[in-house]
Parts: sequence; C-alpha cells; structure tokens
Amino acid sequence: MDKDILSRYNSPEGATDYTKKFQRHWTERVNNWNEQRLLQRLLQFASIGRLDGWALDLPCGYGRLYYILRDLGASVVEGDWSFHLLGAARRFHADKLNSPPPAGYVRATALSLPFRDRAFRMVLSVRLCHHIRERQERLQYLREVMRVSREWLVFTYFDTESIKNRTHEFRRRFNGKRSKWTLDSQEVKQVSQSAGFEVVRSIWMSRFFSGHRYMLLRRR
Ligand SMILES: C[S@@+](CC[C@H](N)C(=O)[O-])C[C@H]1O[C@@H](n2cnc3c(N)ncnc32)[C@H](O)[C@@H]1O
Repeated sequence: MDKDILSRYNSPEGATDYTKKFQRHWTERVNNWNEQRLLQRLLQFASIGRLDGWALDLPCGYGRLYYILRDLGASVVEGDWSFHLLGAARRFHADKLNSPPPAGYVRATALSLPFRDRAFRMVLSVRLCHHIRERQERLQYLREVMRVSREWLVFTYFDTESIKNRTHEFRRRFNGKRSKWTLDSQEVKQVSQSAGFEVVRSIWMSRFFSGHRYMLLRRR
C-alpha cells in the first residue's frame, strides 16, 4: 500500500478534498453521474434485481455508491481505512433523512478484512486497486475481497492494456512520471478462477479517457 496516499486519505484535509472531488466542477459531476449509471447498468445486466442480505461497500470513501447497493435491498456495511472518510460517510448519509442508513461502519484495511469467509452476498470495491503500489499486494487485495464474498463482487482496477496506460507509458519516456499501478486481464482472470469466481462482465469506465475497468464477478 502506498503510505503517502493512505495518510492523505486518512487526514482531515485529504478526506475533505475527496468528499468535494465530485462537486468541484461540472465535468466531475458528470463523471460521477456516469459512473453511477455504469454501475447500475452492470448490476442490471446480471439481473441482480433484489439483493436481500449483507453487502459490503469497501472502500466506501464518503459513501457516494452506498445507495446503489441499498436500493437493491441489501443491508450495507460501509468500510474504509480512513477514519475521516468514515466520518464523512456518516454525515453524508445522515443528511438523507428519509433514507435508511447503512447497517454499520467498519474501519478496516482491504488487505486483511476482519470478516469471515463469504460473509457478504455482494462486495463492492471501487477505485482502490490502483492506489496499491506492489503488484503482490494488489493481488492479495483481490483475493481478500473475493474471500469475503459469497456471491457477487464488483471491483475496479487500472488496466495495463488500456489506451490510457499505453499513452501514459509512451509519455513517460519524456516526462519521467512513474508507471501506473495496474493489473492485466489475464492475471485478474487467474486470481478469479482460483478463488472460484467467473467474470460475468467487464466495462471500461471510459474507453479513451480512463484506464479503469469495472468488473462484475460471480461465484461459480
Ligand atoms: C478513490 S477513494 C474511493 C472511495 C469510493 N469507493 C468511491 O468510489 O467514491 C479511495 C478510498 O480507499 C481508501 N483506502 C485506501 N487504502 C485503503 C486500504 N488499505 N483499505 C481500505 N480502504 C483504503 C481511502 O481511504 C479512500 O476512501
């Protein structure tokens, strides 16, 4: 895990910054709206009409994706490593007075989750993988979110084969930036298969402008 990124999220300033990320500019609001629609489409595609039982949203950040799981009927646990973002999520949900709040909030690291095997019918894990510096830890993270899922897993990763990543690697020759922390589709498939999952669907967050992929997996 990258210590600088982690401490930034786990600071009051970093948490406030992320809480406002999708409100600062209209383009970010559109991105947020598009991403939520994409996630809803992914779930509709798999005909997940109703999801009674427990679901985990980790990392939840300030809780922007909670409602998508809640609207499926799930009892949702919000989890994150950042105390400050968990606090922000609590406030964000408390503002929505007519809406049932999450079933609970848990401070946990995605590399070693404090839940028993298959504890949740669905696990949602968005925009974390690309913050994990070491490849071995990215794979460990994947195994961990699969371990606690009984049925469904939705997660995102930054794809080595994306146009965005290839362009980034080309530009690196001139700008000296670090490589992105990516995974490729083959290794995702391998980890999924050995954990007993199959890939149901995979969608680019945006084919040209983002290297992130949304993955929907189901336990076989
Ligand atoms: C880019 S935000 C994504 C939050 C949320 N999924 C969303 O899409 O809005 C990344 C989140 O990962 C959390 N995080 C970073 N490292 C973590 C770890 N090892 N375990 C759990 N959460 C972590 C941060 O605190 C932050 O909330």
